[in-house]
Amino acid sequence: MDDVVKQAWQQRDGAVVLTTVDSKGMPNSIYATCVGLSDDNRIVIADNYFFKTKQNIEAKSKAAVLFITKEGKSYQVKGEVEYLTSGKLFDWMKGWNPTKHPGHGALVINTTEMYSGKEKLI
Ligand SMILES: Cc1cc2nc3c(=O)[nH]c(=O)nc-3n(C[C@H](O)[C@H](O)[C@H](O)COP(=O)(O)O)c2cc1C
Repeated sequence: MDDVVKQAWQQRDGAVVLTTVDSKGMPNSIYATCVGLSDDNRIVIADNYFFKTKQNIEAKSKAAVLFITKEGKSYQVKGEVEYLTSGKLFDWMKGWNPTKHPGHGALVINTTEMYSGKEKLI
């Protein structure tokens, strides 16, 4: 599982799309470029300007992250989320998040499913 995520992530091109939902199921998608893949292959997104996204996380939303490779292959990772404001992954995020951005928190996606198009990879 880890290799699948890592190999796809390494070929990622441009911003990822992060989708969350509110308590009524209304989806909300944002672009994110301040992103990383942890040593244990979890997608981490810096919360610099989350608003609705943060509300949705607080309402226990799961998340989907959509990205594309330079070759035009798309990947979608889905899972439960953690929102961290301290600890190892938060500190790691602060290390790569550009200092011009606030880096309020680190959103961590714990992958439970992964797709490329309709193909289920995980
Ligand atoms: C290209 C691009 C990249 C962005 N990257 C991030 C990011 O890494 N982190 C972040 O918090 N907001 C980022 N934003 C802002 C979010 O896309 C979004 O505007 C913000 O979360 C507020 O939307 P919301 O109320 O739906 O959460 C980016 C915006 C653009 C256009």
